[in-house]
Amino acid sequence: MPSAPAPPRQFDLRTASAGAGADLAERKRAGLSDDHVLPAGRSHEGVPPCWHGRSVSAQRAVSGPRHPDWRLHRVSEHWGRMRSMQSDLLAQAEQNRVAALSGLDPKSQDLLGQFFTPARAAALIASMPRLPEGGAIRVLDPGAGSGMLSAALVARILDNQPHLTVHVVAVECGSPVVPQLLDTLEACKAAGDGRVTFEVVEDDFITTSTGMTTDRRVTGFDLVIQNPPYAKLAASSAARAAVRQSGADAPNLYAAFLALGAAALKPGGQLVAITPRSFCNGPYFSAFRAYLLDQIALDRLHVFESRSTVFADTGVLQENVIFSGTRGGDRTQVLLSTSNGHEDDISRRAVPYTDVVRPDDRHRFVRIATKDEDTEVAERILTLPETLGSLGISVSTGRVVDFRSRECLHSVAETGALPLLYPGNVRDGFIEWPWAIRKPQWFLPVTDKDQKLLLPEGWYCAVKRFSSKEERRRIVAAVWSPERTPGPIAFENHMNVFHVRGEGLGRNTAYGLSMWLNSSLVDKFFRTFSGHTQVNATDLRMMRFPDSSTLWRLGSLAPERLPEQAEIDAMVDKVVNVASTAA
Ligand SMILES: C[S@@+](CC[C@H](N)C(=O)[O-])C[C@H]1O[C@@H](n2cnc3c(N)ncnc32)[C@H](O)[C@@H]1O
Repeated sequence: MPSAPAPPRQFDLRTASAGAGADLAERKRAGLSDDHVLPAGRSHEGVPPCWHGRSVSAQRAVSGPRHPDWRLHRVSEHWGRMRSMQSDLLAQAEQNRVAALSGLDPKSQDLLGQFFTPARAAALIASMPRLPEGGAIRVLDPGAGSGMLSAALVARILDNQPHLTVHVVAVECGSPVVPQLLDTLEACKAAGDGRVTFEVVEDDFITTSTGMTTDRRVTGFDLVIQNPPYAKLAASSAARAAVRQSGADAPNLYAAFLALGAAALKPGGQLVAITPRSFCNGPYFSAFRAYLLDQIALDRLHVFESRSTVFADTGVLQENVIFSGTRGGDRTQVLLSTSNGHEDDISRRAVPYTDVVRPDDRHRFVRIATKDEDTEVAERILTLPETLGSLGISVSTGRVVDFRSRECLHSVAETGALPLLYPGNVRDGFIEWPWAIRKPQWFLPVTDKDQKLLLPEGWYCAVKRFSSKEERRRIVAAVWSPERTPGPIAFENHMNVFHVRGEGLGRNTAYGLSMWLNSSLVDKFFRTFSGHTQVNATDLRMMRFPDSSTLWRLGSLAPERLPEQAEIDAMVDKVVNVASTAA
């Protein structure tokens, strides 16, 4: 049995995590690959209402024929050996979390995003906000679930701030978990011995925080701590309209919770949250980012390198970020940190605020360069002279949405049918067509409208919009050669295509772009602002590029087949360095 580390980490979830590992192993045995968690080609933005996109079938498979209380017994055995009062508090909260999870109906779990934070991750989240030495603070926990985040915060306060009292307001609309929530908060109160009070608002956080009926109990907080539910908010929904009326356009439920959480703060109050990293870039969250970053100044950002560990025992696969920010705070510096999972060592670095949210970036991407090397990479790329716009190159998503063009699609060659190119056609830096990918790869236009979906014969560079988890790089680029297959072509919508006013690029420019985009340099830069496997055309437009003669030269050196990564990087390095020295 490992001994307990020193406070504030007096707890150790290795036993509970072994349970998580067992879940994953069992999922594998049940034939559930990670693809069941996040189907290939779908971003989490588009998945049905579940926090982190876990499928109902996956949940059923993991629940298996075990004794219903198996985790409770294992967790309590472990926690039973812990000594301090705060550890007891977290042990109690962890028991309640596990009990709450095991009592959930899979449908409502998905619908309400009921994926609760494990104790160790909760402790990491609760370690983020600044706390005053003494006095009293009001804390909001919206979507409190079984109360794990409140418990972790109270445990930290009881451990480290002997002169501070705390009042917790926990908002939760999923009634089956309320008994566990009450039990956790009662345990907090008992552990606090007069320093902890709480109230539970059993209601919808969106309704209580917006419109005419704003509930006073959910305003004026020193701290909002949350793991918001992940679900879609239909553009036409009353909830989305209500959030919009309060000033924020939140495209999904987690963004709505963050916006309303920020609005519930007093000036100087802090928001701390664990969320998918997806809000940090991309056009989908643009308006929301603008709102959030006006409301709060970021203080700290923590990213997990592994997508699978934090919510492993709920089967969730998602790139997560924990962040904290202050309402009306100072925008000078941000502390960036990273760890593999929530149980691993953390490395930290402070960077200027303007490295994270660049003043010249109208899209307000949140850039997270967690290593010195990342900053060097960002500096190197951001000093390059060109954008796609200044190079006269455009990038667009492929025009063919296959289900909208069914009558044009053919699985075998037909007279007059043209190549339809999918991400599956991308092979080692080249677009191979036709290829055995079980897609209808011939496009035969029926109407004039269909003709407009074609691109004329030419050299093109294309990038997959979604990389698969097996791919080492996030940006996977390839070249289409008109020498191999003359004639017009159609790109399917899961591809981003580079072109010049709707026509092809020069041969060397197409190869040069492909080499550049496939380099480790670009991959590292991309990862500083994007946490997901989706590559938006906006992301590509935001990047900087070498000048046209450098791209041309790179293309002239490129072999037809994409070489090994080290060779690509050496070529890119050589050509780009030569160009910058000459400049
Ligand atoms: C991702 S879970 C997090 C629970 C808890 N904060 C934790 O970290 O373990 C989100 C919680 O929000 C609740 N929830 C979902 N929609 C809600 C809403 N509109 N108002 C209040 N609570 C909601 C769910 O029932 C669920 O308990």
